[in-house]
Amino acid sequence: MLGRKVPAVTFRTRVRDEAVGGSNPFRWEDVSSDDYFAGKRVVLFSLPGAFTPTCSTFQLPDFEKLTADFRAEGVDEIYCISVNDAFVMNAWGKSQSLENVKLIPDGSGEFTRKMGMLVAKDNLGFGMRSWRYAAVVNNGVVEQWFEEEGYSDNCDSDPYGVSSPQNILETLKSQKLAA
Ligand code: BEZ
Repeated sequence: MLGRKVPAVTFRTRVRDEAVGGSNPFRWEDVSSDDYFAGKRVVLFSLPGAFTPTCSTFQLPDFEKLTADFRAEGVDEIYCISVNDAFVMNAWGKSQSLENVKLIPDGSGEFTRKMGMLVAKDNLGFGMRSWRYAAVVNNGVVEQWFEEEGYSDNCDSDPYGVSSPQNILETLKSQKLAA
C-alpha cells in the first residue's frame, strides 16, 4: 500500500441541518475521498464494526484522547472508517462524545474493498467488513501502513496492536528522533 493513492469514492454521510426542521433534522451529504484527504496529513484507522467491544473500549477512545499528541507529530486529522452506514456511525460517535476523531461511513464497503482490506465476517453474522489497519495518509497518498497480522476471512480473533494509536504515535515519534 505504501505510496499508493487512496481510492476515489463518494461517502454518503448524514449531517445535521436545522433547515430540515422536525425532530430529526438530518440530510444526506456526499463527501469524496478528495474532500477527506486532499492537502492534509491524516491518520486513518479502520475496524470491524461500530459498537464492537475493542473498538469502543480502546481503539476509538484512545485515538480521541491522544489527538493532541498526534497533532504534535504533524497530523491534521484523525479518521475512523468502518463498513457501517452513516446512521450507525453517527450514533456511535454520539455515544462516544467524540470531539476530535471524524467518523467515515463506508456503508457499501467500496473504499475498504478497493484498499484490499475487505474480509468476510459471516462467522459473526456481520457479512463483509474491514480488516483492522491504520495508515498515515499524506495528501491522499499512503505514507505509512499499519496492518494487523493474519488478514483472513472469518477469522476467529481480531488482532489489535499494530494499528493502535499508541503504536502509531511511538512510530511517528521515533521517526522524528531519527530524522
Ligand atoms: C471487537 O471487540 O472489536 C470485536 C468484537 C467482535 C467482532 C469484531 C470486533
